Parts: sequence; structure tokens; C-alpha cells
Amino acid sequence: MIAGTALPEELQAIGNLDALRGVCERVFVPEPGERLVFGEGPEHARLFLLGEAPGAKEAESGRPFVGNSGRLLNKYLQKADILREDAYVTNVIKVRPPGNRKPKTSEVTEALPILLREIELIDPAIIVCLGSIAVQALVDRKAKITEIRGTWVEKDGIRIMPTYHPSAVFRDEQKRELLKQDIFSAAEALKKLEP
Ligand code: URA
Repeated sequence: MIAGTALPEELQAIGNLDALRGVCERVFVPEPGERLVFGEGPEHARLFLLGEAPGAKEAESGRPFVGNSGRLLNKYLQKADILREDAYVTNVIKVRPPGNRKPKTSEVTEALPILLREIELIDPAIIVCLGSIAVQALVDRKAKITEIRGTWVEKDGIRIMPTYHPSAVFRDEQKRELLKQDIFSAAEALKKLEP
């Protein structure tokens, strides 16, 4: 089990993504006028892209990574020859934190069991963790993104690539290059998987 967390029995009994979305709708309450943002993509995608939390555009549409960060992510996926629709895209946190603040540790802790079940249901070969909240949720609570990015981590047979969050690279060309490089590494690893 990734992150060493035993899943509550109720979650273990959840057998598909629709039912898991139903749990999220019960547990996480969006701000008034906003929507829950559950993951989207093929049920058994080999690539799992994990962000932090929805922003305003995502909370408005109910879909992950559709704003500026999503556009940059899409651009690098395209350059790496990865079709976004072949990947499963989700966030650690499923509702927009008020004022787009960073999620609190308690919110990550609350959201983690659902994320872990989401990962089990998708059963991906590769997870790209975009930003420190995703990396700390799955890899190491104390990980520093500047130190760990670009280094494969293996957990429960899943290869995890920690990298920068797209929003952290907008104004930093060097970091943009590294994000692109890490997505290319994920694309190379995908190509080497059994068909
Ligand atoms: N930032 C994220 O981490 N996730 C989104 O879906 C959008 C912006």
C-alpha cells in the first residue's frame, strides 16, 4: 500500500470510480457555486497525473487541469507524444481551497485514503506527481521538490516521477525545462512498458 496507510473498510469495498466519486460528493463540500473536481481519464490508464487541488477554472467546470496550469501541462504532454486522454488526471484535494490557498496538512490527510483507493482502482504503471503537495502525499511527507524532482521512486510496483507543478514554472525558464524533461522521462518509461 502506497504511503503505508491502511484504507478504511468502507473505501476498500468501493469497487469503481463512480462509487468513489459518490463518496467524495458526500465527504468534500465545495465552496458555494463551485463543483467537486474528481479525476478523469480511462479507468485503467497506465499514466496517472497527480496535481495539488483545483483552481477557480477547475472548480467552475468540475474538471482537473483546465486552466493555465492545465494548458502548460497539455503542451508538455503533447511535446512528449502523450495523449492527455490516455492519462488519468486528478488532484490530491478534490475541492478548491478557499482563495486558492495551499491545502492544509489536515486536508491532505483527510483526502489521502480516497486518493489511494483511486490509485488502486486505476492501477497505473506510472504516476507523475506535479508539485510538492502531490509528492509529499505519495512519496515522503518531508520531501523537498527541488531535491527529489526528476528521480524515479518505486512504490508497490508503481514508478513515481516527482516534478514541479506547472504553476511553479510559469516565470522560471529553467524549471520549465526540468518539468518538460521529467514529462519526457515519463513518456520514455511508458514506451518501455509491455503492450
Ligand atoms: N492546479 C492543480 O494542482 N490542479 C488543477 O486541477 C489545476 C491547477
